[in-house]
This record gives sequence, C-alpha cells and structure tokens, in this order.
Amino acid sequence: METVLIFIVLLGLLTFVNGASKGALITKLPGFNGSFPSKHYSGYVTLDETSGKNLFYYFVVSERKPSEDPVVLWINGGPGCSSFDGFVYEHGPFNFQAAKTHGGLPQLQLNPYSWSKVSNIIYLDAPYGVGMSYSNNKSDYITGDTKTAIDSHAFLLKWFELYPEFLMNPFYISGESYAGVYVPTLAFQVVKGLDAGAKPVLNFKGYMVGNGVTDEVFDGNALVPFAHGMALISGSLFEDVTAACNGSFWNSANDKCSELLEKVDGDVADLNIYDILEPCFHSKEAKETDTRIPSSFKNLGETERPLAVRKRMFGRAWPFRAQVREGLVPTWPQILHGGGVPCTDDEVATSWLNNKAVKKAIHAKENIIWELCTGNIEYYHDLGSMIPYHKNLTARGYPVIMTLCVPYTGSEAWTRSLGYKIVDEWRPWYFNDQVAGYTQGYAHNLTFLTVKGSGHTVPEYKPKEALAFFTRWFRGKNLREELRDCSWVYGPCRC
Ligand SMILES: *[C@@H]1O[C@H](CO)[C@@H](O)[C@H](O)[C@H]1NC(C)=O
Ligand SMILES: *[C@@H]1O[C@H](CO)[C@@H](O)[C@H](O)[C@H]1NC(C)=O
Ligand SMILES: *[C@@H]1O[C@H](CO)[C@@H](O)[C@H](O)[C@H]1NC(C)=O
Ligand SMILES: *[C@@H]1O[C@H](CO)[C@@H](O)[C@H](O)[C@H]1NC(C)=O
Ligand SMILES: *[C@@H]1O[C@H](CO)[C@@H](O)[C@H](O)[C@H]1NC(C)=O
Repeated sequence: METVLIFIVLLGLLTFVNGASKGALITKLPGFNGSFPSKHYSGYVTLDETSGKNLFYYFVVSERKPSEDPVVLWINGGPGCSSFDGFVYEHGPFNFQAAKTHGGLPQLQLNPYSWSKVSNIIYLDAPYGVGMSYSNNKSDYITGDTKTAIDSHAFLLKWFELYPEFLMNPFYISGESYAGVYVPTLAFQVVKGLDAGAKPVLNFKGYMVGNGVTDEVFDGNALVPFAHGMALISGSLFEDVTAACNGSFWNSANDKCSELLEKVDGDVADLNIYDILEPCFHSKEAKETDTRIPSSFKNLGETERPLAVRKRMFGRAWPFRAQVREGLVPTWPQILHGGGVPCTDDEVATSWLNNKAVKKAIHAKENIIWELCTGNIEYYHDLGSMIPYHKNLTARGYPVIMTLCVPYTGSEAWTRSLGYKIVDEWRPWYFNDQVAGYTQGYAHNLTFLTVKGSGHTVPEYKPKEALAFFTRWFRGKNLREELRDCSWVYGPCRC
C-alpha cells in the first residue's frame, strides 16, 4: 500500500511539476478578482545566460480540452509591437475596462470570445527589446527578420522543453500585420528544424496571417485600386494615376505618376487607416467636443467589448504607401519622432502592464517600461518578399489561412499570383445567420478569408466572427467544409 502511494507521488512530481511551469504559474492578477477559467503561465525563456537574452511569453491554457486542443503561438507586428496588444485588445482571456481616474488599475473581466476557449495560446514578445523581452547586451536590439526567426525558433524549442505535456498537441503559428513576415519565416525555421532532426519534435500543423505584410510590390500596389473600389478617390483620378504610373504604384517611375499619387494620398490622408469607414476619434472628450463628427458616427467604434475600439496608428498596415521595403524598417515611434500619435489610445494596456504589482504577478522584469510599440530596436527587413516562403510551405502541404480586411487588394493579388488552382470559388461564409465575410480556397490548403466590416485588427473589431473562423480553422480536417458547416456551435448559419 505504501509503495503504491509513493509511486503515485513520484509520478505526479515527474509529470506535473516541472520547474519552469511551476515557477511560471500565475496565481493572481491585479485588476481581476474572479477565478481563472484555466491555468495561466508567464515568464522568460532565457536563450543565452551569459549575455542575458530573454524572451517573454504569456501562456493561456485552453478552457476546453488542454490535452487535445491545439497550441497556437500568437505574435503581433510592428516591428516593435508587443503581443500583449493581442492579449489586451484582441483575443486574450480578459476584457479590460478603462482605467479608473483615481490612479486605479484597469479592471478585468473574462472575455467570452477569448481564443483560449478553444486553444492553448502563447503570446510571445519578440525580438529582444519588445514588450517585456530584453537582453543585457544592447547590441541585440539591432535586429531583423533573420535573427527574429532564428531566435523565435530557439524560443519554441526551449518552451516545449519546459512544457513537454503540450508537445503532442497540434501546433500552429499566427499573427498579424508585420507578423506577416514573422509568421512564415518562423514557420520556415520550424520546418527546416524538423527536416534537420531538431529536438524536441514540434507537431507543426500550419499557420495563419491576418492583414500581413507580404511583398513590397503587391502591398505597394494595393492602395490605389482599394481607394478607388471604396470610392475614396474619384474615377477620373483613378484613370489618370493608372495611366501615368502604368498600373505600377509601388515605385513611381516619373513625376506625373508621383504627383498623382500625392493627390491620392491627399484624398485619404485624414481617414483612419486602420478602418477607413470609422472616424479617427475616440476619446469621450473628442466625441463631446469635436463638432466635425456627425452624431451618427460617434458610436461607430463600439463593439461588444467594453473598451471602444482603438483608433491607433501602431502596427503597420496599408494603404498609405507605407509598404515595408528591404532594409531598415523604422518603428512607429521612430517615424513619429516621439510626437503625439493621432487616433491612438493605448492607455489601458500601458497603465496595467506598467503597474508594479502586475509585473510581479506575471514574472516580468521590474524595471522594464512596457510600451505597446517600442522605438528601442533597430530593425532590418532582410528576408525580402514572403511569397517564396508561402509557396514553399504550402507546397509541403501546411494549411495556411490569410485573413484580410482593409485593404484586401494587395493580399488578394498575391494569393492569386501563386497560380494555385481555385478549389473553392469566392463565396460568403456565415456567422449567426449573417454573411460574416468572403472566402476563396486554393489548392495546397491555402485559404483566403475576409471579415466584413472589420478594421485592421480583426479580433478587436469583430471578436465573435474572429473566434468563429479561428475555431473552424483547426476543428476539422477541412476548413472549407468547416466554413460551410451549419451546425456551428456559436450560432446557426444559413448556407
Ligand atoms: C470584484 O470586483 C467587482 C468590481 O470591482 C466587485 O463588484 C465585486 O464585488 C468584487 N468581488 C470580489 C469577490 O471581491
Ligand atoms: C554583445 O553582442 C555583440 C554581438 O553579438 C558581441 O560582439 C559583443 O561581444 C557582446 N558584448 C558583450 C558585453 O557580451
Ligand atoms: C506599361 O506596362 C506594360 C505592361 O506591364 C509594358 O509592356 C509597357 O512597356 C509599360 N509602358 C511603359 C511606358 O513603361
Ligand atoms: C523548401 O525549402 C527547403 C529549404 O530551403 C528546400 O530544401 C525545399 O526543396 C523547398 N521545397 C519546396 C517545395 O520548394
Ligand atoms: C491539407 O491539410 C490537411 C490537414 O493538415 C492534410 O491532411 C492534407 O494532406 C493537406 N492537403 C494538401 C493537398 O496538402
């Protein structure tokens, strides 16, 4: 009897109490006084003891079946933006209420549309210098695509060593915006690692990119047709600029073309680039005092989440001819010279994550000043177009989803350019008896999906629809069939 008992205790120690996950468990979060629906872990994975290279992660265990649900890595873009962006404002386990005025902390409630409802999800701050991640050697803050992909891959291998109980789960990589570069380049490292016999063996199953940076030419050509399609520029300007630039807008070849492109920019300059259909104001004060906003527009930023949708500049997107080019990619703070950012409200994340007690609770280094998007790194886009990466990975059968909102024109064009056979023609997909967006399926498991009426950060603007496609993504074998499915758990659909 006694021996059996000892055996059970030992087994328990071996399987469930490993050092890192034990020390990383979050037991309390300032601002939240309820009970956690699943376990949360966070802390650093140290990639080099001597130079003190540390990547920070926050891991939310699935609220459904942790042992079977996929493990999903989430990365925000920038470059320089923290993945707490996704955690606080998009699909994290909590909804945040605005900070109380008397120096109080933002109050947290559970988010009914958290992606942790259906997956184990890791929020990673990368590269070094971003969010809570750091290195003691500041030369690590001069970085780029290649280093970031290699370091993130090293992070994953170490992370799975710390959490071996999740090694067998299907593993996916996801992200948005500049993560349109991080995701496929990291996926490529993972696949190369698998080919080379890297240990531990990751059960890699596919990736998803939301509104991703992809290719200088396709992204750079996207604005003009988009602006025309959305009636933001006149038909005659569209014809003139198309003729002058000979249909190539990404790299103007003559003065006439440049002049007309400037005119296009002028027409769209005052729009909210992350959601052109919504006004570029958000604070309560602006709503009350800014007489330029028609009253029918004043509540447009509201969703079912308690925080109004941010109108932020951070996180790169198109249009506005700000396409990422080879070489140095200025971070947003660098572009803006530290000046005030129009349409921005990062107050809730900033006040919560810089609170001493919060940092302690999530095992972050105390003296880090957390910023949504940092200007402390010097980042080089050194891996060029992402199209060859998508080609290589899809050719090997890894399922990919590209989700899109504004402007979809660039991504639509490059997915078409791969030349893959269309196996599921452009059609609506549904959520709650409504058209939620459109989808087109290509051979090699490449799916293109739009979310109707969404801004740049889809889970922020359309949390229900985002959870819907996220769930369907890996629920079955075939996303296309899933998108047709009428028996979907979160609501009926008419197909
Ligand atoms: C939790 O916080 C809410 C809102 O501040 C409050 O109404 C509630 O009483 C608190 N519950 C507990 C158990 O402290
Ligand atoms: C910091 O990193 C650079 C580049 O890897 C290296 O050359 C240098 O020796 C490092 N400095 C220290 C103090 O470790
Ligand atoms: C315009 O583009 C077409 C097709 O891309 C090309 O054949 C033609 O030479 C271009 N004309 C000029 C003036 O660049
Ligand atoms: C993908 O890239 C790897 C590594 O460079 C290469 O060995 C492989 O042949 C490529 N596969 C395809 C289908 O392009
Ligand atoms: C598509 O993905 C599924 C699920 O991962 C896989 O079984 C299948 O082989 C893939 N199909 C192709 C054509 O690569």
